[in-house]
Amino acid sequence: MNICIVGTGYVGLVSAACFAEMGNNVCCVDVNPRVVEKLRSGEVHIFEPGLEELVTRNYAEGRLQFTTELEEGLEDALFVFICVGTPPREDGSADLSYVFQVAATVGQKMKGYKIVVDKSTVPVGTADKVREIISEELHKRGASFEFDVVSNPEFLKEGDAINDFMKPDRVIVGTDNVRTAELLKTLYGPFARSRDKLIVMGVRSAEMTKYAANCMLATKISFINEVANICERVGADVRDVRRGIGSDHRIGYQFIYPGVGYGGSCFPKDVKALVGTAGEYDYEPQLLKAVDDVNNRQKTVLAKKIRNYFANQGGVQGKTLALWGLAFKANTDDVREASSLEMIRELTAQGMRIRAFDPVAGTRAAAELGDNPLVAIVADEYEAVKGADALAVVTEWNQFRNPDFDRIKRSLAAPLIFDGRNLYSPSLMAGLGFAYFCIGRPD
Ligand code: UGA
Repeated sequence: MNICIVGTGYVGLVSAACFAEMGNNVCCVDVNPRVVEKLRSGEVHIFEPGLEELVTRNYAEGRLQFTTELEEGLEDALFVFICVGTPPREDGSADLSYVFQVAATVGQKMKGYKIVVDKSTVPVGTADKVREIISEELHKRGASFEFDVVSNPEFLKEGDAINDFMKPDRVIVGTDNVRTAELLKTLYGPFARSRDKLIVMGVRSAEMTKYAANCMLATKISFINEVANICERVGADVRDVRRGIGSDHRIGYQFIYPGVGYGGSCFPKDVKALVGTAGEYDYEPQLLKAVDDVNNRQKTVLAKKIRNYFANQGGVQGKTLALWGLAFKANTDDVREASSLEMIRELTAQGMRIRAFDPVAGTRAAAELGDNPLVAIVADEYEAVKGADALAVVTEWNQFRNPDFDRIKRSLAAPLIFDGRNLYSPSLMAGLGFAYFCIGRPD
């Protein structure tokens, strides 16, 4: 099948590479000529395990193309996937200008029947607006080509995106058009394996499903973080509590790991956006507001422990913190809404020096943090701890799970670890002579 994918971010590029891998002809469109040039020369501009190999191979074999011209991508395509960004505005609502711009261009340039698929995460009602925009543009040029607008939200996780796309838990297709639903079933057949995994519903329900899924997951995380904070105070261990509640199948073990709060480009933005949408319809979503509030507080929990520890030593001013992990989670170079950045801003504002290391996110973090003389991003984790007053672990990269504790102890000015991801065992740390502070376990 011929597919045009607009936007080569995580969702667009992964979808494109995976569709091409299944034998489809895919043309990717991106307005950024540098990105297109890089992709053509086999360089993938985002860090995602396995993606570069998939992109370069499918490009070399001719199933994947890259262009800056939407008109070129539209030419032969039956499906036009909109995968452009929907960044949050100041008030938390999603900025849909890129989505609408694509819709307008489709209306201006299309020369035959198209199925326009919203894959970007967009508020309920967006597909209807996309339809209106395309109709208006067609009307302006006196054209009357048929088209359909479908909502097909994406559920992939950064760091595991190819696996999620290739073996999805479900594929949501929002359309009232039976023929369009059949065409999408054919397109997704090789991925969904069993046709039961493809769930067809109304457009607005599909749009809502995406938000409900992310908000449910964010709720689980804020819930366990709340429980963890209570555990610390009452002398309980959240690891045991997690095991205890997760064994109930209705609750499950997944996505109830306490930590430094959820970050990334999805949960924080989507929870706020659904709160905003509900507000537009005169409804106050109390639970979702609390999920967001708990998360904002959780992002400050580790910095607070550090400040408390140093409070009777003149505060954090002039002290140095080794910080392991800048990405919002492991296996990505993405630092959007990362708790690490918030921590760094808060602690440097109090005069603390930071020596940070991340296996891949250093450059992006440096760009976000700007010029701050108190922050150094160093080349490896042991370089970070040299002479530092404490170590804080913020991202759960595998290489931090079993480090050389003797070397860390020798390098630090004092054996002190703040662990925002509960990677280590308190008894092991005590045995090794570290003062160890983590999340949801008695100190
Ligand atoms: C999330 C969803 O998991 C995907 O299903 C969805 O498609 C995607 O958003 C999206 O809307 O595009 P992602 O943001 O890549 O994926 O990352 P997650 O693995 O979900 O992690 C989000 C945050 O929650 C991270 O900061 C992570 O550290 C945190 N987290 C996750 C916890 O604190 N505890 C957990 O138990 C799980």
